[in-house]
Amino acid sequence: MGEKNKSNESIKTLFDTISPYFDEWAEVFQEKVYGYVTWEHLKKHIPKDRNSLILDAGGGTGRWAIPLAKMGYNVMLCDISEGMLKQAKKNIDKEKLSEKIALKKEDVTKLSFPDEMFDFVLCEDGPVSIADSQKVVRELGRVLKKDGKMWACVVGRYPLALVRAEKSSEKALKIIKGEINYVRYKGVDSNRVFSPKEVQNLFQENDIEVIKMYGNRIVTAVLSKEIQRTMDFDDKFFSEIRELEYQLSEEPSLLGMAKYLQIVGRK
Ligand SMILES: C[S@@+](CC[C@H](N)C(=O)[O-])C[C@H]1O[C@@H](n2cnc3c(N)ncnc32)[C@H](O)[C@@H]1O
Repeated sequence: MGEKNKSNESIKTLFDTISPYFDEWAEVFQEKVYGYVTWEHLKKHIPKDRNSLILDAGGGTGRWAIPLAKMGYNVMLCDISEGMLKQAKKNIDKEKLSEKIALKKEDVTKLSFPDEMFDFVLCEDGPVSIADSQKVVRELGRVLKKDGKMWACVVGRYPLALVRAEKSSEKALKIIKGEINYVRYKGVDSNRVFSPKEVQNLFQENDIEVIKMYGNRIVTAVLSKEIQRTMDFDDKFFSEIRELEYQLSEEPSLLGMAKYLQIVGRK
């Protein structure tokens, strides 16, 4: 009980369908706060050498590949969804970055790249939880150079249990106890959820040392749905909430309350 068969085909279809609207969604309040905190931390871990080659695995429409390429990095963006890759191409062409970002259709559970090809590997907002997590982490580790760093993100177990506590307390209890490990989140039927300890084990089992963990979507999770989804917000309120989110993202005692756990690992 609690394990689900995940079909890559249904994931592909889902992202193909939402790809034309994906970038618009990034403009709502909670996504902008999440994006700010992610970028502020991510910048601290990318290689010093701007000629480095970065893999953006499950990179979607280029949300992270584009700013990385603007800094000078060479990026390989791969994704399973043709729709997302098509949108990425439009965004990349608009920014005139096609010489810095290569696009490739790939399944992150079985990458075609050789061992130790990349200086830095990024896998943000979903793929590790959406696809088979063990296989994804193994593949990300395989293509990363020795001593290279990796940034990945998984969906947190406890907040997704707590939001179900009122309407489905039995389910919430099963999620907390680890009897249910796959949960519907952000339109995806089965996301693997993790506690901070579980995610640490996942990376360590794959010979990746976890050197830092950030909690994201702690503050926006307690705001009303209306505020989370608005595009019309006050700048002062936005900058205060994003600062709150940024401050709490590094608070170890709150990691379990984060909807996203962002992991920095070293091979
Ligand atoms: C929520 S989006 C995030 C995209 C991007 N990483 C970002 O942060 O904006 C999740 C992405 O993971 C991709 N994805 C899911 N499963 C995948 C798989 N097995 N292989 C490659 N990409 C996958 C989806 O197609 C989608 O583009």
